[in-house]
Amino acid sequence: MSDRDFAGLKETARETGAGSFGCTPRHVAVIMDGNGRWAARRGLPRLEGHRRGVEALRRAVRASIELGVGYLTVYSFSVENWTRPKEEVQSLMVLLHRFIHNDLAELSANNVRVRVIGARAGLTSDVLALLRQAEEITRDNTGLTLVVAFNYGARQEIAAAARGLAEAVAAGELSPADIDADALASRLYTADIPDPDLIIRTSGEKRLSNFLLWQSAYTEFVFLPIHWPDFDKAALEAAIAEFAHRDRRFGGLESGMRNAKTAS
Ligand code: FPP
Repeated sequence: MSDRDFAGLKETARETGAGSFGCTPRHVAVIMDGNGRWAARRGLPRLEGHRRGVEALRRAVRASIELGVGYLTVYSFSVENWTRPKEEVQSLMVLLHRFIHNDLAELSANNVRVRVIGARAGLTSDVLALLRQAEEITRDNTGLTLVVAFNYGARQEIAAAARGLAEAVAAGELSPADIDADALASRLYTADIPDPDLIIRTSGEKRLSNFLLWQSAYTEFVFLPIHWPDFDKAALEAAIAEFAHRDRRFGGLESGMRNAKTAS
């Protein structure tokens, strides 16, 4: 999407009014890309980009609540992100720590339920305790579900699910004939979470980067020409305005399956 198209969409969203598209996606997932470039453009350290990225995350949560999104999934740390310089990995861990420590009470007061998806193996005990605490404290909340993809990789998730099925077959608990798409999906981290309707990636890059590969079979993608620290409610509204124009047919021929029908 060009800067001009983005400006136009924001204008359309502003004129139409927040949340009035009649088709707010039930599940929005976000690849929060461009923190480093945002910082570099301003001559700032990368960490400052990530720090401002956390502020953008707060705005995204608030906007999702206001617009009636049911699930917001954020890609906060991938299994591949461990290959970044040690100091940057350490800074991202500190930011996660601070985010949960400082924001959990407010998230809970806003009826947000926190879920964490990703591999737990290899995480330090303090990070594990933090993630567990966030899930437990907010378990009974019924508003927005904030799904934090942390130490997440879609290929690893699918491989683990396949391994689980193979083990069940080896143990005689499952017949190979029973293995279908539903059986595999039931062993993913997202087993009880609906597939994303909309995936937004900021920074202009157009790839999935090992994010929700299975779950995005029929997801609509919107690529925004802004870096993540600049993300705000207007950007979410613009992405939803673009989503509203898409005609989702889920592999069928009928163009009648409009987004409005799949909205929560
Ligand atoms: C991509 O930007 C962003 C990340 C790898 C991390 C995203 C993390 C945050 C927004 C903050 C921490 C999250 C939580 C939940 C507290 P990049 O560094 O790849 O940017 P670049 O491509 O411009 O270098």
